Amino acid sequence: MKGGLFLALNVFLLLHVVCGCPEMCLCRQSTKTVNCNNKGLAEIPTNVPSETRILYLQNNNIQAINNSAFVNTPWLTIIDLSNNSISSLPSNAFLGLHFLQTLNLTNNLIHDLENNIFNPLQNLTELDLSSNNIVNLPESLGNSTDRLTLLTVKHNQLQSIDRALLDSLSNLKTFLFKDNPWQCSCQAVGLKLWLESFLYRGGIIDEVVCLTPENWKGKDLLKIPYEFYVACHPQKTHILLSNTQLHNLEQQNNGKHGQNAQSRDRNVSDCEVKSKPRPVSIRHAIATVIITGVVCGIVSLMMLAAAIYGCAYAAIMAKYHRELKEVEHLAPATELGSPEEKEPLDGSLA
Ligand SMILES: *[C@@H]1O[C@H](CO)[C@@H](O)[C@H](O)[C@H]1NC(C)=O
Ligand SMILES: *[C@@H]1O[C@H](CO)[C@@H](O)[C@H](O)[C@H]1NC(C)=O
Ligand SMILES: *[C@@H]1O[C@H](CO)[C@@H](O)[C@H](O)[C@H]1NC(C)=O
Ligand SMILES: *[C@@H]1O[C@H](CO)[C@@H](O)[C@H](O)[C@H]1NC(C)=O
Ligand SMILES: *[C@@H]1O[C@H](CO)[C@@H](O)[C@H](O)[C@H]1NC(C)=O
Ligand SMILES: *[C@@H]1O[C@H](CO)[C@@H](O)[C@H](O)[C@H]1NC(C)=O
Repeated sequence: MKGGLFLALNVFLLLHVVCGCPEMCLCRQSTKTVNCNNKGLAEIPTNVPSETRILYLQNNNIQAINNSAFVNTPWLTIIDLSNNSISSLPSNAFLGLHFLQTLNLTNNLIHDLENNIFNPLQNLTELDLSSNNIVNLPESLGNSTDRLTLLTVKHNQLQSIDRALLDSLSNLKTFLFKDNPWQCSCQAVGLKLWLESFLYRGGIIDEVVCLTPENWKGKDLLKIPYEFYVACHPQKTHILLSNTQLHNLEQQNNGKHGQNAQSRDRNVSDCEVKSKPRPVSIRHAIATVIITGVVCGIVSLMMLAAAIYGCAYAAIMAKYHRELKEVEHLAPATELGSPEEKEPLDGSLA
């Protein structure tokens, strides 16, 4: 009797572990959804059923995600971790989530993102990182998660984004940037060019509002004139740079800065507005004046020629009409319309 009860209890416990639902959460078998929304959780529950597809963990007090936290739930397609207190995200936090499509991390305390953190998420299409304290995006973001269509980094501490990272986000449709301290001096030219081509391809963005340099504060990066970025590279100012040339320059610059990232951080004003824009703009102005002068001269000459031609033509026509009238007066009875009659007159004009 006792043995039987013990066995039954064991079976019950086993079933609970295998098919169970985490304490405090609501599990819906039909949609394979586990809802732990707003339950005061401090950790990710350990006994989430392995076949779960959707896991709601928003509005809790989760501070860290351990390495391999989701390896027992490999079928997850949606994880909502918004509105928690996550600050610690080790590089293997999302290991094994090959089918994850949506990851919502908005409204947490994330500061740094490990370089390979999103690498396992090869099916990720939507990533919401808004409202954190993020200072950097992982360089390899687009390399592994190349299906990403929506990326939100609103309300963070980002100052710039690498051109290589942007270029790797090949399927992106929407990218939201608002409320970051964007740095719009020379290193922003890569972002500016990328934004333009992204918009041209039908991409959706909000605004990249500059915080620095001081004279562009509050201005949209897309509205800063290219002249400003041409001035960043005094050695190349003899021509207006084409986009590809600017892009190449930017890459070279990134390379240089890469070797000496510290000095870039300390001295971002390296190639700022006031570095040497004046001589350049004067040279441009002179060139513009010369070109305008030459064009105006040519146009004037052409107009003069046209005027002379016009006067001569008018005089000839006047003479023709006068002679025509004289002919009419002399011979009112003749049929003027006939070509034989007109021919001698035409001949006299030639
Ligand atoms: C965030 O979660 C807390 C509970 O942890 C809740 O009181 C608050 O309303 C939530 N905020 C939002 C914006 O949902
Ligand atoms: C996460 O790791 C910490 C320390 O390594 C441990 O105390 C905690 O139980 C772990 N949490 C889970 C859900 O495994
Ligand atoms: C992405 O998901 C599809 C099914 O939705 C699956 O067939 C494919 O293997 C997944 N890709 C990777 C890299 O796991
Ligand atoms: C993430 O969650 C917030 C609220 O918790 C929601 O407003 C936002 O739309 C979600 N993001 C995505 C990409 O679903
Ligand atoms: C991303 O992929 C490209 C080419 O596939 C490679 O050149 C580049 O180094 C990769 N970047 C990272 C950060 O892995
Ligand atoms: C930054 O560079 C400028 C010259 O471009 C120099 O005058 C200034 O001292 C540098 N500032 C720091 C903090 O290195």
